[in-house]
Amino acid sequence: MLRKVLRQCYALHRPTVPRLYRRFCSSPSETTATAISIDRSTLYNPPEHSHHPTSDSELVKHLKGIIKFRGGPISLGEYMSEVLTNPKAGYYINRDVFGAEGDFITSPEVSQMFGEMVGVWVMCLWEQMGQPQRVNLIELGPGRGTLMADLLRGASKFKKFVESLHVHLVECSPALQKLQHQNLKCVGEENAAQDTDKTTARSLFVTPVSWHATLEQVPSGLPTIIIAHEFFDALPVHQFQKASRGWCEKMVDVAEDSSFRFVLSPQPTPATLYLLKRCKWAAAEEIAKLNQIEVCPKAMELTQTIVERISSDGGGALIIDYGLDGVISDSLQAIRQHKFVNLLDNPGSADLSAYVDFASIRHSAEEASGEVCVHGPITQSQFLGSLGINFRVEALIQNCTEEQAESLRTGYWRLVGDGEAPFWEGPDEAVPIGMGTRYKAMAIVNHKQGVPVPFQ
Ligand SMILES: C[S@@+](CC[C@H](N)C(=O)[O-])C[C@H]1O[C@@H](n2cnc3c(N)ncnc32)[C@H](O)[C@@H]1O
Repeated sequence: MLRKVLRQCYALHRPTVPRLYRRFCSSPSETTATAISIDRSTLYNPPEHSHHPTSDSELVKHLKGIIKFRGGPISLGEYMSEVLTNPKAGYYINRDVFGAEGDFITSPEVSQMFGEMVGVWVMCLWEQMGQPQRVNLIELGPGRGTLMADLLRGASKFKKFVESLHVHLVECSPALQKLQHQNLKCVGEENAAQDTDKTTARSLFVTPVSWHATLEQVPSGLPTIIIAHEFFDALPVHQFQKASRGWCEKMVDVAEDSSFRFVLSPQPTPATLYLLKRCKWAAAEEIAKLNQIEVCPKAMELTQTIVERISSDGGGALIIDYGLDGVISDSLQAIRQHKFVNLLDNPGSADLSAYVDFASIRHSAEEASGEVCVHGPITQSQFLGSLGINFRVEALIQNCTEEQAESLRTGYWRLVGDGEAPFWEGPDEAVPIGMGTRYKAMAIVNHKQGVPVPFQ
């Protein structure tokens, strides 16, 4: 059965890191049972409709207050930023939103193999960096902390590597910081994750772990490896629509009946500068075809911060997300309990995310410094396949129950497959859907490090 699954998957690449993956596969660690849930790709997008909540939530009152105070609409970018990360009532701030019980599921929650494979990538880069004795390993937006826990557990045999690490988690949500503290089995500083400013604890794996609200707050001066998995897709996007008077920004306003509605800006807005920049990086024919363009100024700024850090301290960054290698037209979506909902419907109760524009990240990185090289994007399937995930799944399956083996097979498909799993015999609504081609991996590394695996 496993062979059949492997054959059916896209990613039957020869691993580029045989020494590491063999050692990795030699003693499989405990397998984790995984909750299977609906993937973002094939969900039905309901038609726009207006929604009238019976009573306004704290966040809705806050949004309406900003619009009233300003005397006019706010940009979609500001709306998204408030909805997701408003310090009091933002979507991520006060709860766990992941998994079958939550709103969506991410790759680290699908299978332990994801964090383990990212761990292989990090170890390979560390080797290319000359095995430094001290390294800052930074994760942006760690969610439940599952990726980092799987990475550290998987790498625990590599003493020299693990002992070199100081883990820094960049997380705006106090509730998720607390969950990360628990999942990394941190000891010491019992209240470490209560404070959103820097706090430090020690993980079960003896690695020091510190929390920060932003990347800028992570101390510099040490070689650095940065992981951003499904972080860029949560950064606020601005949308522009072509009108007879030119490109107009899509804004959020309050209608007469007190519901939210979209309006177009009457004149250029501050984000128009980013639109112009994005258009400059694209071919004129590509832009001419579009009536709407989405840009993510925060992604451009974050890329610049990452590049400055890697240029001065050495190391590299791995960005994995769903997206395209070109201009994005209109991808912003809201998901509640695994279903698409209207973007303006009861803000704060659904996740908002947008496709990542990998081309824009590449241009921002190249513009920020000549010290770094950008590699990819390649598909998640190519990335995980080349790092040896098929050998890892085979090794794990040899040492687990049939139920765990089934969970590993479906998890494997979800990570590297494309479309619905053809081997599935369970209920239609639970069919695993592959994330292998929609999700992409890009690396930005200091050019002194050479080309990272598996981007050669
Ligand atoms: C889509 S989730 C991805 C979680 C995790 N990487 C995973 O794959 O399971 C986004 C994560 O980034 C965090 N986050 C979103 N915007 C942030 C911001 N502006 N600053 C810091 N953390 C942020 C969220 O709280 C959450 O942990």
